[in-house]
Amino acid sequence: MTSKAHTLLLFGATGDLSRRMLLPSLCALHAEHLVSENLRIVGTARSELTDLEFRNFAREALEKFLPAERRGSMAEFLNRLHYQQLDVTTPEGYMELAEKAGPGEDLAIFLSTAPSLFKPTIEGLAGAGLAGEGARISLEKPLGTDLASSCEINDAVATAFPEERIFRIDHYLGKETVQNLLALRFANLMFEPLWRSQYIDHVQITVAETVGLESRVDFYDDAGALRDMVQNHMLQLLALVAMEPPTSFTANAVRDEKVKVLRALRPVEASEVVTGQYRGGASNGKIVPGYDEELGRDSDTETFVALKAHVDNWRWRGVPFYLRTGKRLHERVTEIIVQFKCVPHSIFPSARMKPNKLVIGIQPQENIQLNMMTKVPGIDQEGMVLRSVPLDIAMPDAFSDKHKRIAYERLLLDLIEGDQTLFVRRDEVEAQWNWIDSVRATWLAEGITPKTYSAGSWGPSAAIALAERDGVSWHE
Ligand code: BG6
Repeated sequence: MTSKAHTLLLFGATGDLSRRMLLPSLCALHAEHLVSENLRIVGTARSELTDLEFRNFAREALEKFLPAERRGSMAEFLNRLHYQQLDVTTPEGYMELAEKAGPGEDLAIFLSTAPSLFKPTIEGLAGAGLAGEGARISLEKPLGTDLASSCEINDAVATAFPEERIFRIDHYLGKETVQNLLALRFANLMFEPLWRSQYIDHVQITVAETVGLESRVDFYDDAGALRDMVQNHMLQLLALVAMEPPTSFTANAVRDEKVKVLRALRPVEASEVVTGQYRGGASNGKIVPGYDEELGRDSDTETFVALKAHVDNWRWRGVPFYLRTGKRLHERVTEIIVQFKCVPHSIFPSARMKPNKLVIGIQPQENIQLNMMTKVPGIDQEGMVLRSVPLDIAMPDAFSDKHKRIAYERLLLDLIEGDQTLFVRRDEVEAQWNWIDSVRATWLAEGITPKTYSAGSWGPSAAIALAERDGVSWHE
């Protein structure tokens, strides 16, 4: 699918994602003239709003969530917006929506609603002729709570849209440094020969957050950290690190390689997983309550998970992938660490050799650093003194004229333009769920329950022990 959409239909247009991310992203794309002047945006939701009221809602969202210098001509952007009230569970109303959306050709649809509404929405769209050949549909997570429910959603969508017109969002794929990981691996010769078990000791992926439950009490308590963060974002990061070089940067070539990795994930053993739940503590200098206090009751839901994963193929045999993520941790940081092995023989007997380490910072710092041994300047009578020094290989300064983008900018533009490369294919999502279900089955069978940790810490001490047992320290 290559034709550009002329209309973007936004379901859940008055929701939180729309306010914080989608409308600001669309306005930023507009300001940079990245979308066609003819693109119309039709919002829909349950509330009764006129076009004008929706535009006012959008204006407030932009003023709050998009820096002034990125807004361009806001009035022109707001003129692109239209609104149609709709209860997606009743067939009435879809025809009016279709009239507002215009002909079903070149239509991009974005569902930012609860997954329980996907099925009636798809039926309504199909019934109103909005699922024709020129229409593509994008789905926001959560895409299920396990493999079975995810298959149900996928089946429902597949009744009206073929796979090449389904765009499953994982917003981490829209992040600049995540895409840069592909550039680093496949636009440079030097890493690929070393990118294997012979030279890599282990990989760490950390997605640490300082926020707590925010306003998502019910959703989060049903999901937990494993399903909220590992099933999607972290497994996508792992797949990008571990995949074989694709033959081209095209949707199926990239996704064919990622899915092989996801299918090669070995089920974890009970000793390879630690879960946690935060208690009160200090986060970002503020005293914050524990998860149970925020929830108002006891719960077994994990707000932290650390895992040791293995990719069972030739390239990664014997290389553990340590993953950890959690809420109310010490700092907000997402990074991937590729820890190389030591040189096979040191010719510097007086030096403490440290193996090379590649640190791929995804947020808040977007940076790539390679730690290398180097000589400390000076005359060393006792033998050469060496030290590990970071070499910035993608300094933010090098691109200081480029502003930070919202991940959804890239993804919305690709949806409008019909490029699926940064979207997740059905077989990937299902392979992800398959592995996640096996992790949950292990912890249910072994009676693993969350260990407590103080808000503002790095999680339960058992997570530190999980790595230390192998002589590995989490990168902090
Ligand atoms: C979402 C999760 O997918 O990602 C949230 O549901 C989490 O719980 C968020 O806070 C993190 O995204 P980011 O882009 O802030 O790292």
